[in-house]
Parts: sequence; structure tokens; C-alpha cells
Amino acid sequence: MTDPTLTAIAAVGTNGVIGDGRGLLWHLPEDFARFKRVTMGGVLVMGRTTYDSLGGALRGRVSVVLTRNAGWRPARTHGCEVVVATSVAAVGRALAAHADQRWWCAGGGEVYRLLWAVTTHLDLTEVQAHPTGAVTFPALDETWRETSRDPWAGFDFVTYERVRPTAAGALRSLTDAV
Ligand SMILES: NC(=O)c1ccc[n+]([C@@H]2O[C@H](COP(=O)([O-])OP(=O)(O)OC[C@H]3O[C@@H](n4cnc5c(N)ncnc54)[C@H](OP(=O)(O)O)[C@@H]3O)[C@@H](O)[C@H]2O)c1
Repeated sequence: MTDPTLTAIAAVGTNGVIGDGRGLLWHLPEDFARFKRVTMGGVLVMGRTTYDSLGGALRGRVSVVLTRNAGWRPARTHGCEVVVATSVAAVGRALAAHADQRWWCAGGGEVYRLLWAVTTHLDLTEVQAHPTGAVTFPALDETWRETSRDPWAGFDFVTYERVRPTAAGALRSLTDAV
């Protein structure tokens, strides 16, 4: 049986900043286009703050939105499936219900950290910029190995995988415990 994967996808400044809580830090049409292409048909796990900042559900994808407010209801679903998850266990159940789709963690800072222990792969746009902002991507340590790098003007598309299989085991436990 192949190991399940959860890929965190983010555009990250050289200083680790991913957001300022207000708007977009950069305008990179190639990054938008690639994000849409690679995540299409998949499941996007995200925080309620990120869901709101996107202005609603992204078409062609299932959204799993983390909130502590069980009464929260998503706006602007555009007819897409949006699952409200009030815990990591609920995220596991939502992913297990979509076992045939690719699983993505789409942020933001709180949710990347919340799911870090079960994140097996990274798909980063490493932007050559030092934006000001309080929201950051988790720091990468020696458990991550770069597996590809595609340089563009001002940014690189970079993928990583975990050197140790611990995260895959933790993700399997989370999504098997349904
Ligand atoms: N550059 C990028 O690639 C990228 C990607 C994504 C986001 N961003 C940026 O990141 C920023 C948002 O990040 P953020 O860290 O502020 O927020 P976030 O991670 O998007 O969402 C935080 C929210 O998630 C919910 N949550 C967190 N932990 C939870 C738990 N244990 N159980 C249940 N719900 C939980 C809470 O929602 P409630 O408050 O409803 O309880 C919390 O307020 C924005 O500026 C956005 O633009 C950037």
C-alpha cells in the first residue's frame, strides 16, 4: 500500500513571511496559474482566515476549513463542497472521505503549523523578496530534502519531501482512525 501524502503549498518570502493579514504580498500570475493547475481536483485544507481571505471556495476543489467555531458556515461556496472541521481529527476524517484525491495544506501560518507533523511534502514558491508581515511559514530543518527546483524570474518553484517517514505514519494514523 502506498503511503498517504499531504503537501503544504505556499508562496514564501526569503524571510519566511507568507502574509500580513491584510492582502496579497506579491502579484505572481505564474504562481496563481500553477497553484490552480496542481491543486485542481484535490482537497485543500485551510484555516478559516485563509478561506475568508480567498473570498470563498476555489472551484474544482474540495475545501476543508478549520475553525474553532462549530457554528461557522462558509460563504461563497460556488457550489463546491466545503467541509467545516473543528479539530485535526475532523480533518483526518474529511481527508479519509476523499482518499482518491490529492491532499493539500493551503495554510495559513497557524494551519501549516497545526498539520506540520503530518505534512509529508512541500510545494513552495520561494519568492526573492523580504515582505513585511507577521504570518510566516514554518522553518525547514534537516528532515526536509529538496527534490526539485524550477527557477523563474524573481522566484523558484521548489519541492521537498521528508527524509524520515514519521510524518507519513502520523498521517496514516490520522486518516485511518475514522
Ligand atoms: N503566501 C501563501 O502561500 C499563503 C497561503 C495561505 C495563507 N496566507 C496568508 O496567511 C494569513 C492567514 O494565516 P493565519 O495564520 O492568520 O490564519 P489561518 O492559518 O489561515 O487560519 C487560522 C484559523 O484557523 C482556525 N484554527 C486554527 N487552529 C485550529 C484548531 N486547532 N482547531 C480548529 N480551528 C483552528 C481558527 O479559526 P477561527 O478563528 O474561525 O476559530 C484560526 O483563527 C493571511 O494573511 C493569508 O493571506 C498566505
